[in-house]
Amino acid sequence: MTLDPGYFSERYAASPDPYGLAERWYEARKYALTVALLPRERYSTAFEPGCSIGVLTAQLAPRCDRLLACDAVPDAVASAQARTSRLRGVQVEQRIIPREWPPHTFDLIVFSELLYYFDDADFDRALRLGIGSLRPGGHMLAVHWRHPAPDHPRSGDEVHEALAATAGLARLACYRDPDFTAEVYAHSGGDLRSVAQAGGIV
Ligand SMILES: C[S@@+](CC[C@H](N)C(=O)[O-])C[C@H]1O[C@@H](n2cnc3c(N)ncnc32)[C@H](O)[C@@H]1O
Repeated sequence: MTLDPGYFSERYAASPDPYGLAERWYEARKYALTVALLPRERYSTAFEPGCSIGVLTAQLAPRCDRLLACDAVPDAVASAQARTSRLRGVQVEQRIIPREWPPHTFDLIVFSELLYYFDDADFDRALRLGIGSLRPGGHMLAVHWRHPAPDHPRSGDEVHEALAATAGLARLACYRDPDFTAEVYAHSGGDLRSVAQAGGIV
């Protein structure tokens, strides 16, 4: 079963930052590596579902003209709105993914520590919606924890194995260490040039 919003609401009721996202060096380093993987200097319209309190949102914002972030939990949404209120182009909404997927297209979609909460049906639906709303030349970034998490319907490694096996997606970049995997995907029939190739360096 997909972990429902009540599971997460309880955590935000106990702490304003239940995952230590604004506190830990582990998270700061992971965010820096995550943002550094993005092949393009700027994106026009990005979507970040499951944004929590908006720490990664604030780091993505300078790379995006418009960034829609969402979380299922109202307390998290309020914190993310406060954190990003002075950043241009950022909008934070309460949405439950995949059933409230926004009716827009994006050239960047960021699944950071989200897909392992979904059962098979929601996982497939989120991926299908993600691929379907990715503009030509767009990028999908996925980042997930690799250590055991008994509450989660699937592990982070299983998420990334499934992404690698998904028809229609091609991997452009990958970072992996013992703690997490971060990968960038594009439409398999799309622009698969490297950063140096796209920049005319090679
Ligand atoms: C571990 S936090 C990750 C936060 C952020 N993406 C990051 O990497 O820093 C997971 C967040 O996903 C949210 N979430 C879980 N299931 C969700 C769903 N179905 N729709 C939207 N948000 C969800 C939770 O409320 C929580 O804030």
